[in-house]
Amino acid sequence: MTARFFYLVPALCLLVPSAVHAGSNNSLMDVTPDGKLLLVANTDNGTVTLIDIVGRKAIREIKVGEKPECVAWIGNGPNALVTAYKDNLVVFVDTQTGKVLKGLPVAPEPYAVVTDKEGKRAWVTHEYPGLVSEIDIASQKVTRTIEAGAMVRGLALSPDEKRMLVSEFYTGVLRAIDLDSGKVVDTWKGHSTDNLSRHLLLHPTRTKAYLAHIRSIVNVNHGAGSIFPQMSICDLKPGEGRRRVSVAMDTFNGVYVVTNAWESAMSPDAKRIYIIYAGTDDMNVCNVIDDDYHEIERINLPRQVGHNPRAVRVNPSNDEVYVYNAMDFAVAVYQPDGMRSLATIKTCEPPKSPEWVRGKVLFNTAKAPMSARRWVACSSCHPDGHHDARVWQNPEGLRKTTALFGLAHTHPLHWSADRDEVQDFEYTIRSQLMQGSGLMSGGLKPKRGFEKAELEMVTSGKSKDLDALAIYCNSFDFVLSPHIAAPGKLTQDAQRGKEIFFRKDVGCARCHSGPYYTDSSLEKPFKLHDVGTGNDDPSEKMGPKYDTPTLLGVCRTAPYLHHGKAKSLHDVLTSCNKEDKHGKTSHLAKNELDDLVAFLRSLPYEPPPNVTPNTVPYRFFPAKKETSP
Ligand code: HEC
Ligand code: HEC
Repeated sequence: MTARFFYLVPALCLLVPSAVHAGSNNSLMDVTPDGKLLLVANTDNGTVTLIDIVGRKAIREIKVGEKPECVAWIGNGPNALVTAYKDNLVVFVDTQTGKVLKGLPVAPEPYAVVTDKEGKRAWVTHEYPGLVSEIDIASQKVTRTIEAGAMVRGLALSPDEKRMLVSEFYTGVLRAIDLDSGKVVDTWKGHSTDNLSRHLLLHPTRTKAYLAHIRSIVNVNHGAGSIFPQMSICDLKPGEGRRRVSVAMDTFNGVYVVTNAWESAMSPDAKRIYIIYAGTDDMNVCNVIDDDYHEIERINLPRQVGHNPRAVRVNPSNDEVYVYNAMDFAVAVYQPDGMRSLATIKTCEPPKSPEWVRGKVLFNTAKAPMSARRWVACSSCHPDGHHDARVWQNPEGLRKTTALFGLAHTHPLHWSADRDEVQDFEYTIRSQLMQGSGLMSGGLKPKRGFEKAELEMVTSGKSKDLDALAIYCNSFDFVLSPHIAAPGKLTQDAQRGKEIFFRKDVGCARCHSGPYYTDSSLEKPFKLHDVGTGNDDPSEKMGPKYDTPTLLGVCRTAPYLHHGKAKSLHDVLTSCNKEDKHGKTSHLAKNELDDLVAFLRSLPYEPPPNVTPNTVPYRFFPAKKETSP
């Protein structure tokens, strides 16, 4: 082990003194302990880029598999680990030769990866399965898997390497796993509104964890009250006390609002913390305050960085800060004092098409013209096309946020089918919620009450930006369900459930028909159905008939139904279907219901077709499926 930084600490301190070891917390970017190399994951290109920091240039781009979400160096390199989220692989790469050494099959949805200082062991979070797997690096094998919570993303190794800290994406709940016993030994719950917590940072000597995330205030539908940027700071000491505090990063800056707190990094001397905001393209530079009260104190106003910053790291010698501006496809280098820009290093070519890229930029930003208030971006509720696991109190009633996978094939849009083009979300941009000036010139047909004005208005083909936003939203594909036996192959219980699903006396396939398991079609009149769910919400203004949702990917998107009253798939078929209006389920035995749910959870078990008679033209159509290692 070379060139680690050690600190003099009080003799009574129980922790192993050490600087923030970059690879000990998850990120799209990692710096070697000797500060010579950077590795960056280009999520949309399926590659990682090796950067020579000293020479200020990208050395090579290496293909690793679909949707790499995190990288971690093994020691000083040249080998590193990468999670390929869509391929269910942890990829071992030799960055010197550019070769993939191994694609290690792991549990589904590997998100974060971190390594220990000696480069012997690595740990990986698996989002949907809620697991952490431990990998022995020399033998390239998974040695154990540990249950860690629900939808886990953020991951950090404690400085003494005895504990693993894990954060849940949709709740911000932090958990500590003892690495001897392999058990969760402590939990730090946040506020019920805490959301989208994808990253964890630990203080090198004090027992503190830092979680950059947002809050989703679901009962407020307003550009300045729905989404808040937060920094939660947990005291990792066991026992009672002031265990978790949360700093509101919008008021932190006075009048200056930042959006979608994404990730943070600490300087090796633990004096500074850098927090990046993917929605407003900026970064807070703060002093770390060791008072167990204020915790952080900003230095000046936020500093503008590039488009959609998604990773930040500090050089071990504390003389450079790196920001990965994901939508510039570049790493920006800053000098910590004064944040003077030193260099910009390109990591890859923009993926897919210029329109798709433009759409992604617009979708992720809370700046004008998307919002005049700067609090809310589309991605605050639909992060990378996922849902936010929330039910919002909209003017028309309670509305569960939908994931956008398969959108191109499942128009019309919204639970009430009041939109027929993604371009109609110009109405959302100009609404109370986002308060943007919009992407289209000219007026919109005004809304009167809850009539479906959007359906009478053609919004596509009117603005390049609006069309680009539609192309981006219509290009999310499903991943196969983690519950299947193999691609195209159901487990036995799901196979029995499939027969029940298609039985005439149960009748699910009457509405959940075709390859996307929905009868949604742009043919008019739209087919809306009353399945007995319209009277459960006194604030409902548009019911009781709703558009049939796709059932693909449904295992990941609880709670269910337009109002989110069904906490589980079982609830959809039982407590929320008392009158048998939503298919006939009351005559099914318990084991039959279990089988039916097993089938629902297995969707999709094979890739759905890329084109159906209902597919819309505004989307990115890949020429050829990218190959994996
Ligand atoms: C505050 C959270 C929030 C924000 C911000 C937000 N959405 Fe949504 N989105 C929702 C909810 C809730 C629904 C379901 C509403 C309904 O169906 O009536 C939804 C539904 C959708 C749908 C329909 C999906 C389907 O299958 O029917 C699309 C498309 C969509 N949103 C795109 C966008 C775009 C584009 C933006 C930015 C301009 C955006 N959303 C901003 C919460 C949000
Ligand atoms: C008459 C048409 C119809 C039939 C028959 C039907 N569904 Fe549905 N399904 C719908 C509609 C409409 C919704 C949305 C209702 C709402 O949100 O209130 C829905 C919602 C769902 C959802 C929730 C999806 C989500 O994302 O929240 C599931 C799961 C589901 N149906 C499964 C089934 C199963 C299983 C059957 C057979 C027992 C079935 N459905 C029968 C029309 C139907």
